Amino acid sequence: MSDLVLRDVRKTYRTKGRPEVEAVRGFDLEVNSGELVGLLGPSGCGKSTTLRMIAGLEDVTGGDIAVGGRSMVGLPPQKRSIGVAFENYALYPPLTVAENIAFGMRARGHRKAERAARVADVAGRIGLSDILDAHPAGLSSGQKQRVALARAVAREPEVLLLDEPLSHLDAAQRDVTRRELRHLQQELGYTTILVTHDQEEALSLADRVVVMNDGVVQQVGTPDVIYDDPVNLFVAQFVGEPAMNILDGRLDDDGVRLSPDLTIPVRTREPRHDRAVTVGVRPEDVTLTGAAEAHATGTVVVYEDLQEYGLATIELPGVDTRVVAQTAPGLTLNPGETQPIAFYSDRTYLFETHTGERLR
Ligand SMILES: Nc1ncnc2c1ncn2[C@@H]1O[C@H](COP(=O)(O)OP(=O)(O)OP(=O)(O)O)[C@@H](O)[C@H]1O
Ligand SMILES: [Mg+2]
Repeated sequence: MSDLVLRDVRKTYRTKGRPEVEAVRGFDLEVNSGELVGLLGPSGCGKSTTLRMIAGLEDVTGGDIAVGGRSMVGLPPQKRSIGVAFENYALYPPLTVAENIAFGMRARGHRKAERAARVADVAGRIGLSDILDAHPAGLSSGQKQRVALARAVAREPEVLLLDEPLSHLDAAQRDVTRRELRHLQQELGYTTILVTHDQEEALSLADRVVVMNDGVVQQVGTPDVIYDDPVNLFVAQFVGEPAMNILDGRLDDDGVRLSPDLTIPVRTREPRHDRAVTVGVRPEDVTLTGAAEAHATGTVVVYEDLQEYGLATIELPGVDTRVVAQTAPGLTLNPGETQPIAFYSDRTYLFETHTGERLR
């Protein structure tokens, strides 16, 4: 197994008669041997372009990509030991499922018996044993996606690239396949990049997560770091479900003043001279409490009971933006009801309003 290094990788699409698109702008990343990195970002941010450059399906405009210390730039895809499973499957219609899975292996010169054993093993793990003789045309999109995944894994690549590999699966299949994928990846030690716009998938599967926006890497870190210690407003808002509450206010000696009637405590080394700041609080950190500790009295606008927990949308006095609070199970709140609300200084995030940079 090998490590994968990207240095200042860039991609500009130039299409005649159309404006240039700077899809990837200086991507730096070191993926350790055997590591699974989740690449997370909104639609159009450059995730697939990055994977396609690693696979050799797209030229780089600049920068270097190396696997095991060897530059891949300029090598055709088949000369790179990289397994890919992209969202659009790219299965061969005349071949059976078993033949599709074995395809990459044949190209790499494995023996027939070896191929059959490996296909059976991988198919079993990914839940394809019953359909090995079927042709792609007769499969559901979830089955096709699993065949593409099995084919990428079966050829035992040095690097595995997965672009939304679970997107066509239903919720139950996705859970099972996600676990099996992680198990396979760990057992076989593939250096893996998994692209997803599903943050739960990235946070639950990956050793480290890369958050990308508009062609630029925003932050690289373990799922805990990305969730607990975001470097900017983009990462803070993009990661977390339901999303972090974001409120504008002014920083002074007492905390962040959200309205003349409401100041919430913050911990920061920033100078507190009545400057504009943006404050973030996750729904699970907006606490409904007994009157003793409350910072404000909020009015419930909407209450959603999600069984495992509840979500209350709350209006705070003098504050335009409504706040979402995650509440304990078994609670029922009614619209119009008032609730004492507390914010704790070690659970609020502070950001520069203009740049979105985190203030500490
Ligand atoms: N072949 C192409 N020619 C021109 N522009 C392209 C091409 N492929 C992608 N783009 C543009 O490059 C940008 C990045 O696209 P990319 O497909 O990498 O995004 P993505 O993060 O994978 O998005 P999604 O989550 O929707 O799959 C987008 O603005 C897209 O329109
Ligand atoms: Mg994509």
